Amino acid sequence: MTYAVRYYTRTGNTKKLAEAMAAELGVEALPISQPVTEGVDVLFLGNSYYAFNIDKEVKQFIAGLDKSKVGKIVNFGSAAMLNSTYKKVKAEADKVGVAMDPTEFHCKGEFKGIHKGRPNADDVKAAATFAREYKNKNE
Ligand SMILES: Cc1cc2nc3c(=O)[nH]c(=O)nc-3n(C[C@H](O)[C@H](O)[C@H](O)COP(=O)(O)O)c2cc1C
Repeated sequence: MTYAVRYYTRTGNTKKLAEAMAAELGVEALPISQPVTEGVDVLFLGNSYYAFNIDKEVKQFIAGLDKSKVGKIVNFGSAAMLNSTYKKVKAEADKVGVAMDPTEFHCKGEFKGIHKGRPNADDVKAAATFAREYKNKNE
C-alpha cells in the first residue's frame, strides 16, 4: 500500500497529528497546498471544523483530487465540540468519486480555552498508533 498525508491547519493542531501519523506511514506530512501528484492507495486527510464547517480550502483540495490517483481517503482531525468532519469530507469526496475509508481518527483540539493543551502527548500517540495499526492491517 502507498500512502500520502495532507493536512489543513489554522492553529497547528492538525499538523501535530499529521506529522505523527506520517512518521508511522513512512511519508512526509504536507499541507494541502501541495497537490497529490503521485498515485496513492490511501490519502490521510487532516482537517477540522471552523464555524460548523470544513474550510473552503479543504473543499477545493478535495475537488482537485484525481480519482485515478487516490484510492481512498482516511479522515482525521481534532475538532473541539463536534466529533467528526467525516460527513462533510465525504460529501466533497463523493462529488469527485473518491472513496472514504469508514475508519477515521479523532481527538479533541483546544479552542478558546476548551480542551486546553490538546491534542496532548497522549492524543499524538493515539494518532500514531491509529496510523501504525491501519498500515499493519492493510499490508
Ligand atoms: C475560528 C474557529 C472556529 C471553530 N469552530 C468550531 C466548530 O464549529 N466546531 C468544533 O467542534 N470546533 C471548532 N473549532 C475548533 C477547531 O476545530 C479545533 O481547535 C481544531 O483542533 C483546530 O485545528 P487546527 O489547529 O489544525 O486548525 C473552531 C476553531 C476556530 C479557530
